[in-house]
Amino acid sequence: ADDRAVPAGHRRRLQKRPGGQPGGRLAAPGRRGDYSFEVFHDDHPQTALPPVAPRARTSAEWLGEDLRRRSVPLPQPHAPENDHPHTMTAPTQLIVLNGPNLNLLGLREPAVYGHTTLADVEALCRAAATERGAEADCRQSNHEGVLIDWIHEAGAACRAGQLAGIVFNPGAYTHTSVALHDAIKGSSVPVIEVHISNVHAREAFRHHSFISPAAAGIVVGFGVDGYVLAIDGLLRQARAAKG
Ligand code: DQA
Repeated sequence: ADDRAVPAGHRRRLQKRPGGQPGGRLAAPGRRGDYSFEVFHDDHPQTALPPVAPRARTSAEWLGEDLRRRSVPLPQPHAPENDHPHTMTAPTQLIVLNGPNLNLLGLREPAVYGHTTLADVEALCRAAATERGAEADCRQSNHEGVLIDWIHEAGAACRAGQLAGIVFNPGAYTHTSVALHDAIKGSSVPVIEVHISNVHAREAFRHHSFISPAAAGIVVGFGVDGYVLAIDGLLRQARAAKG
């Protein structure tokens, strides 16, 4: 016999397992051996004891249902638009930097570099930037230290959100300058490295670049059009960084 007391006016009914839900209202279920049992009211074997009131839904359950019913998704706390307010737009200023001997463009080895002068290249860059809603500040130096100072200056402008980065043809310093590599890394300025000629199809000493591991992108062998491609790439990267 089961230990639990059967209320007055009720009796226990046994049924062989497995049986599923029996007909009457389940009031006090239990199990014993091969039998499951239920307690029924003597006078009302099919209705038995009053039903137990259904458990009240918790607030979390109500909330869950309410959210599932919504057709418009709720704003997410970490949605990209919350991290990048519309007021923050990508910087549109950029520097086009040319290193040693590029002041000789047009005169220098025309079979390799073409007949376009540095002044032509700079005009091309300014026009390309303007077409893209940007502005290019074009500079050239034959001195490594001057180039390094300009890179540091650019890093500060980038950190202030005023500069997208540098389009840089480092000339022969590409293949020699750890100092330029360090300047780019140290100032965290996005640099797109440009070479007019395909350096990989030339002498072996031009195959290695100290700049490439620090660069955000590389454009090689498209002639002076490479500057335009680099400007486009730099501005796209700056916009992408703003989401
Ligand atoms: C260059 C390639 C360099 O190897 C060379 O020293 C230059 C120009 C180019 O634009 O193809 O000065 O950077």
